[in-house]
Amino acid sequence: MPPKIAAGNWKMNGTQSALDELDTLAGILPKDGVEVVICPPATLLVPAAARGSAIAIGAQDCHAAEKGAHTGDISAAMVADTGAAYVILGHSERRDAHGETDADVNAKMHAAWAAGLTAILCLGESEADRDAGRTLDVVGAQLAGSLPQGATPDNTVLAYEPIWAIGTGKVPTQEQIVDVHDFLRAQLVDRLGAQSGNAIALLYGGSVKGDNAATIFEAQNVNGALVGGASLKAADFAPIVSALAAS
Ligand code: 13P
Repeated sequence: MPPKIAAGNWKMNGTQSALDELDTLAGILPKDGVEVVICPPATLLVPAAARGSAIAIGAQDCHAAEKGAHTGDISAAMVADTGAAYVILGHSERRDAHGETDADVNAKMHAAWAAGLTAILCLGESEADRDAGRTLDVVGAQLAGSLPQGATPDNTVLAYEPIWAIGTGKVPTQEQIVDVHDFLRAQLVDRLGAQSGNAIALLYGGSVKGDNAATIFEAQNVNGALVGGASLKAADFAPIVSALAAS
């Protein structure tokens, strides 16, 4: 069985005072059987990890290179050095705003693994792809291109995030979520064999809130969520964690 994971992506939100929300969240956790991960901005990785709470900490990106002349970037080893255990890679906002290709993401996955991090690899189709009936082709190509050989349930989590559902309040139908997650599970089993392929956690992301989380978690191959806006406040995120624990 894959682990149940509730991950919060704070994106470019939060200064030091946001750590109060982390402390509030830590006060109402752990929830049995759920791994909770918060991915704050890079500036907060050190103080967030230093809290040493039951909440795991993750970064939102890392560079593929070990070190060198890459102004403004941070390496996977630097992320690990903060005490973080996870890194989000291939988020659609980075694929879009920073032109990251599947090959770029693939190289970052290698770097993350080499640093001992668990990568949360994001995949998802645009609205135009969805409307044209290309969702599984697009997501399948992203998976093939950005997931290197060597993925294990310990070093990799997948997050399906339809771009049109991110920050829009639009959530796919349950059938649409099930279709993509079942497809991703089959792809993983095909590539990695049943044991590993069935044990990698598959998260859904895109407008997950306290009032829709329980339904989303009913799907067999949805093992958790990658949450943006609703992860910023402990009061909004805690019900999502509870819904996952109860699923
Ligand atoms: P929202 O939950 O705000 O839609 O964001 C989802 C997301 O992009 C998480 O990585």
